[in-house]
Amino acid sequence: MSNGIKCQMPNEQKSLLLGGDADASQVKKKTKTKKELYEWSIGKEPPLLGLHSISKHEVLEAYIKKYVSILTKNKCADQLMLSLVDGFAGGGVYTHPETQQRIPGSPILMLNAIAEAEVEANLGRRKPFRVNGQFYFVERSASTIEHLKKEVSNAPSSANRMENIHFIAGNFTENLDKIIAKIKSRGKAHRAIFLLDQYGYTAVPMADIRRIFYELPRAEVILTIAVDWLTHFVNESESFKRALKRLELERYQDLFVRIREDHGRDWRAEIQHILHGHFHQSSGAECYTPFFVNSVDSNRAYWLLHFSKHSTARDAMMELHWDLNNHFEHFGKAGFGMLCLGFDPRQVPLQNQPTFAFDKDARELTREALLIEIPEKLSEFGGSTPYQMFFDRNVNDTPATKAMISDAIRQLAKDKDIEIFSENGKQRACDVKLNDTDRIRLAQTETFLLRNIKD
Ligand SMILES: C[S@@+](CC[C@H](N)C(=O)[O-])C[C@H]1O[C@@H](n2cnc3c(N)ncnc32)[C@H](O)[C@@H]1O
Repeated sequence: MSNGIKCQMPNEQKSLLLGGDADASQVKKKTKTKKELYEWSIGKEPPLLGLHSISKHEVLEAYIKKYVSILTKNKCADQLMLSLVDGFAGGGVYTHPETQQRIPGSPILMLNAIAEAEVEANLGRRKPFRVNGQFYFVERSASTIEHLKKEVSNAPSSANRMENIHFIAGNFTENLDKIIAKIKSRGKAHRAIFLLDQYGYTAVPMADIRRIFYELPRAEVILTIAVDWLTHFVNESESFKRALKRLELERYQDLFVRIREDHGRDWRAEIQHILHGHFHQSSGAECYTPFFVNSVDSNRAYWLLHFSKHSTARDAMMELHWDLNNHFEHFGKAGFGMLCLGFDPRQVPLQNQPTFAFDKDARELTREALLIEIPEKLSEFGGSTPYQMFFDRNVNDTPATKAMISDAIRQLAKDKDIEIFSENGKQRACDVKLNDTDRIRLAQTETFLLRNIKD
C-alpha cells in the first residue's frame, strides 16, 4: 500500500511533523513573530501571505461555493439562508509572496465565494435566487479591524450586502454566544460555516466547538491548528499545562512528556496520533476530516480540520481535496483505517509511512484498497445493510469519496463478491447507480468464499 504514493513534503517539514532531527534553534530563527506575520494598519503594506495559507484560502473559497451549489440543487427555492463566521478575521488583504500583488484575506474570500455561488445558482432559473447571507467578522486587534472594514467596503462582492456584514471587535470566544443567538434568530435551518483560523493552537477552546454543534447542529467548522508547535513545545511547565487546558488535554501532559523522552524518533507521531482522536471525540461532531498542509515555505505546518454532523458535508470536503490536489496531504492509508493515517506508529513503521497527496497515484491506490477492504468492512455488518449506513459508519475512516466507494461496490458486484438489492428486496444489476437506500451484502454464492480461500 505504501508504494507509489507521491511525497510532496520537503524533508525539513516532514521531520517537524514526524519527529525527525529538526533543530529547534534553526526553526526558531526562521519563524517570524506573530506581529510580523499578522499586522495590518491603514496606509501600510499588508503582510505577506505564506504559500501554505494560499492553499487554505483556495479550499475555503471552493468549499463555500460547493456548499451553496449542493444546497441549491432544488431549483424551486428562491433563497438560501446562510451565516458565515470568520472568528479570526485579520485585515482582509495580503501581499502575495511571489508576485507581490494584493490578494484577498478570508473575509473577502467568503464574500467573493457567495457572490459567485449566487451567480451560478441563478443560471437556468426563471425566478431570481439569492443567498441570504449574514457575515460575522470577529477580530480583536483595533487597527486590524479598521483595515478590514475599509477593505470590505471597497470589495465589489460586498455591494448590496453591507447591512448584512457585522464587524465584531473583540475576542472570538467572548462573542460566540452573541453570534449563535443572532444565527438562531433567523429562519429554522440555522445553517452556518465557522472559519476558526487561529494563529497557533490555544485560541479556540474545544468547548467553543462543542457549543457550536450543540446549539447549531447544521453548522460546520473549519479549524486550523499549528500542531507542530504544540508537539514541539511539549514540556513539564505550568504554561504548557495552561495551553493544554484550553484544548482539554491537560491530563495528557505527563504522557506527552514520557512519550517525548521514551519514544526516540517517533515521539511526535505518537503525540499527533493521540491529538487526532482527541479533537474528533471532543468536538461534538460526528464527521471529521483531518488534513495537514504541505508547506514549502514555512516551518509552521498545520492541520486544517473540518467538523460537521453530516456525512454529506464531510464528503463534499473530501471531494474538494481530490479536485484541488493542492498542498493538503495526509499521512497514511488509501483505504479504510485512515484516521490512523499512518500517524499510528504501532501500525506502520514510521520510516515506511507514506504521505498521501490527492493525486492520480493516490486515486489508483485508493481504488485498489477499496476493492480489498470493502468486503472486510461489509462482513462486520453480519448481513445486508443500507448503503447509506455503510457509508456513514466508515466515512471518517477513509480518504475515498462516496462516489469512489460506490464505484468500487459496483465493481465488486460485477465480480460477484457483493450483491446489491433495492429497498424492496429486488436484486439490482451491478452497473446501475447505487442509491442510498439500496442494501448491500457479501455475496451468498460460493464465489467470494472460494476466491478468498484460494488467495
Ligand atoms: C491567522 S490571522 C487570520 C487571517 C485570516 N483568517 C485570513 O486568512 O485572512 C489571525 C487573526 O486573528 C486575530 N486574533 C487573534 N486572537 C484572536 C481572538 N481570540 N479573537 C479574535 N481575533 C483574534 C489576530 O489579530 C489576527 O488578525
